[in-house]
Amino acid sequence: MSYQVTIQPSGHQFTVNEDESILAAALREGFTLPYGCRNGACGSCKGKVLQGLVDHGKHQENTLKKEEIAEGKALFCVARPLSDLVIEVKEIRAAGEVPVRIMPCRVQKLEKLADDVMLMQLKLPANERLQFLAGQYIDFLLKDGKRRSYSIANPPHADELMELHLRHVPGGRFTEHVFSAMKEKEILRIEGPHGSFFIREESDRPIIFVAGGTGFAPIKGMLEHMFAEQSGRQMILYWGARAKKDLYMAELPLQWQQQHENFSFIPVLSDPAHEDQWLGRTGFVHQAVLDDFRDLSGYEIYVCGAPVMVDAARDSFTKTRGLPEDAFIADSFTYQAD
Ligand SMILES: Cc1cc2nc3c(=O)[nH]c(=O)nc-3n(C[C@H](O)[C@H](O)[C@H](O)COP(=O)(O)OP(=O)(O)OC[C@H]3O[C@@H](n4cnc5c(N)ncnc54)[C@H](O)[C@@H]3O)c2cc1C
Ligand code: FES
Repeated sequence: MSYQVTIQPSGHQFTVNEDESILAAALREGFTLPYGCRNGACGSCKGKVLQGLVDHGKHQENTLKKEEIAEGKALFCVARPLSDLVIEVKEIRAAGEVPVRIMPCRVQKLEKLADDVMLMQLKLPANERLQFLAGQYIDFLLKDGKRRSYSIANPPHADELMELHLRHVPGGRFTEHVFSAMKEKEILRIEGPHGSFFIREESDRPIIFVAGGTGFAPIKGMLEHMFAEQSGRQMILYWGARAKKDLYMAELPLQWQQQHENFSFIPVLSDPAHEDQWLGRTGFVHQAVLDDFRDLSGYEIYVCGAPVMVDAARDSFTKTRGLPEDAFIADSFTYQAD
């Protein structure tokens, strides 16, 4: 049996399926409620049930005290509805509302997606989750005090494993290790989430996403979040790479394009290989956007990738196409100064 939940004060509504917690259902439908451990131990997800009945689920007694239950409080990560509900909880809309944490994690899976791109999946300690907004990044804290940043490629509702896409920088302090010596089960330390590269939910402007190489990673998380939320906004993804093999997950946006009427995908190759027999768009990825749009004043644009691409996009979109400065949202993969 499924139940309808209304969040106050936002008025947002979502459906909780059989055997689903209130938090899991909210995240699945794209509503970001606060949480930490997701197993009734930390109290971060505590809110109030204004109307209706819940089963409070398994939780630690000092995390949700008897008197709090009497006041109508519940831990939404473990509570399940027994009727339709009205709950009171503040939805997270800005990065500053998400706590930054340091935690160990284990490399669960390493898979080469292209000659120089590695998919890394990380497992957090049992009973721990890292709350983040789709598109944000984490830092690896290395043993010598250095840190390296990588964007989170999964959306918040699918956070059992954290997914990263790493490009090999030959001789690079961290990625050389990843590509030549790292083994599954290695333990690393992460800090996060960080960054302001996340969807501005208050806007209803159509969105253009521009990704260069592994700049696809956070945009993948954002798009999967938007699809989960059943956003009606028009969305186009331009993904630029050198040759076809460098579009290391192209089948995914092609599949999204089949599934979602409001989404389209334009791959752009700067240096297609002869064997690619490429009939699609060529050149620099930001140039493809400039070629397709005379006026960007009504859009919101999310750009991620190498600093030169991000800078060229910002300059040309705002100076020659009327894009307002605050509608250009970007993460630039700058090198960390050691
Ligand atoms: C917010 C943020 C998010 C990021 N997200 C990702 C991500 O999702 N995926 C990803 O692959 N990277 C991402 N990066 C880049 C990443 O943090 C590292 O800078 C990169 O992986 C290189 O680290 P390294 O230790 O291997 O090389 P380093 O030891 O830092 O570099 C060694 C030398 O190689 C050169 N170099 C470094 N990086 C590059 C480069 N990209 N191209 C050419 N030469 C280079 C420099 O001259 C440098 O001195 C992100 C960066 C930032 C700031
Ligand atoms: S008690 Fe930790 S998220 Fe619910």
